[in-house]
Amino acid sequence: MNIENSSIEIRTATIDDLADIFHLGEKVFTPQSASNLYRTWDEYEVTSLFNSEPEYLLVAEVDGCVVGFAMGTTIEKVRTAWNYGHLLWLGVDPEAGRIGVGSMLFDRFRSIMEEKGVRMLMIDTQADNVPAIKFFKSKGFDNPTDHIYMTCYLQKDES
Ligand SMILES: CC(C)(COP(=O)(O)OP(=O)(O)OC[C@H]1O[C@@H](n2cnc3c(N)ncnc32)[C@H](O)[C@@H]1OP(=O)(O)O)[C@@H](O)C(=O)NCCC(=O)NCCS
Repeated sequence: MNIENSSIEIRTATIDDLADIFHLGEKVFTPQSASNLYRTWDEYEVTSLFNSEPEYLLVAEVDGCVVGFAMGTTIEKVRTAWNYGHLLWLGVDPEAGRIGVGSMLFDRFRSIMEEKGVRMLMIDTQADNVPAIKFFKSKGFDNPTDHIYMTCYLQKDES
């Protein structure tokens, strides 16, 4: 993919983009690079959000190809005047990495959240996902908090 001289368009996703988003997510959220993220990435993540909050599902397009996406939601909490935004998934095709696609997607997502009156944005990623942590720090995120995943094997009784 040669995108050096191509322009990057950020737009809300249409139904025709859903398969591209899903397959790009499969490429980006691999068990090697992001085991926890990979574990929860499935087609329902894309279709559910498209059904419920399509305005928060963005794609980056270059020469007719989807090279990145951002998906999020808003959270209203009782007994607080604050609205929260959660960027659930952000993925950029490695072939289009480090040219500002993620940044453009995030900036558009942030603008939409600001228009909705969101006061605080949240993201989460794996502790060893250094590129993503550096990316989010470059976008102004701070105060990383540990979150522990635990597993429990449920073995079948073979007797
Ligand atoms: C994290 C991710 C979205 C960044 O997308 P991107 O389009 O490559 O990022 P950008 O080109 O907009 O980079 C913006 C800034 O983020 C930082 N950054 C991005 N990737 C980086 C990397 N691999 N190493 C160090 N810093 C990085 C830099 O500060 C960069 O600015 P610079 O290029 O001027 O130095 C992309 O690497 C990705 O899809 N990763 C896999 C999925 C993932 O982990 N998503 C986040 C959790 S859901």
